[in-house]
Amino acid sequence: MPRDLVLFVGQLLRNPREVSAIVPSSRALALAMAQGLGPATGRVVEFGPGTGKLTRAILDQGVAPADLTLYEMNPAFCDSLRARFPGVRVINAPAQEAVRELAGVGAVVSGLPLLSIPPEIQRGIIGAAFTILRPGAPYIQFTYGPKPPVTEGVSAALKLRFDQGPRIWQNLPPARVYRYTQG
Ligand SMILES: C[S@@+](CC[C@H](N)C(=O)[O-])C[C@H]1O[C@@H](n2cnc3c(N)ncnc32)[C@H](O)[C@@H]1O
Repeated sequence: MPRDLVLFVGQLLRNPREVSAIVPSSRALALAMAQGLGPATGRVVEFGPGTGKLTRAILDQGVAPADLTLYEMNPAFCDSLRARFPGVRVINAPAQEAVRELAGVGAVVSGLPLLSIPPEIQRGIIGAAFTILRPGAPYIQFTYGPKPPVTEGVSAALKLRFDQGPRIWQNLPPARVYRYTQG
């Protein structure tokens, strides 16, 4: 079994509510999440990187390691991310604390299990994202569920709009990418 899968399954067994997925994202889903990002995006923040499947795709798109910051709650994942991605800033803290970042971020990419996060925490996470994003910049989130991942209440309170991508059947379970913008 690949080393990152061993780490993922081990952390899933210890923290099922936080990890909340049976396996890491597929390369197909990671590419869909990172589509459109590149050197011109500027600073990118990733929420809930886990073993770094989306991180790898973001860097492969040409985002410089120095422009990428990761917020990951699980300390074992943070240790592994620091070893795998030199030059990337890894912060062992909940995504809600990203509100401390400087404004002007070009994209927030989220692998958080948003549907299993209570609405008041979800509001804190999405609110933090749109506090640091520059106007018009996207919050990119995937979901396995049939409905948009951000609850209607949070979406309305923050005046969010979204574009919905096609279902990615190569992922286990199949997933869909949503790009949220404000205003
Ligand atoms: C479903 S896994 C996704 C991992 C990876 N992004 C992927 O797509 O393969 C969710 C990750 O979010 C992390 N997480 C959960 N709640 C979080 C929060 N509030 N802030 C930061 N990370 C969180 C978990 O520790 C876990 O690594």
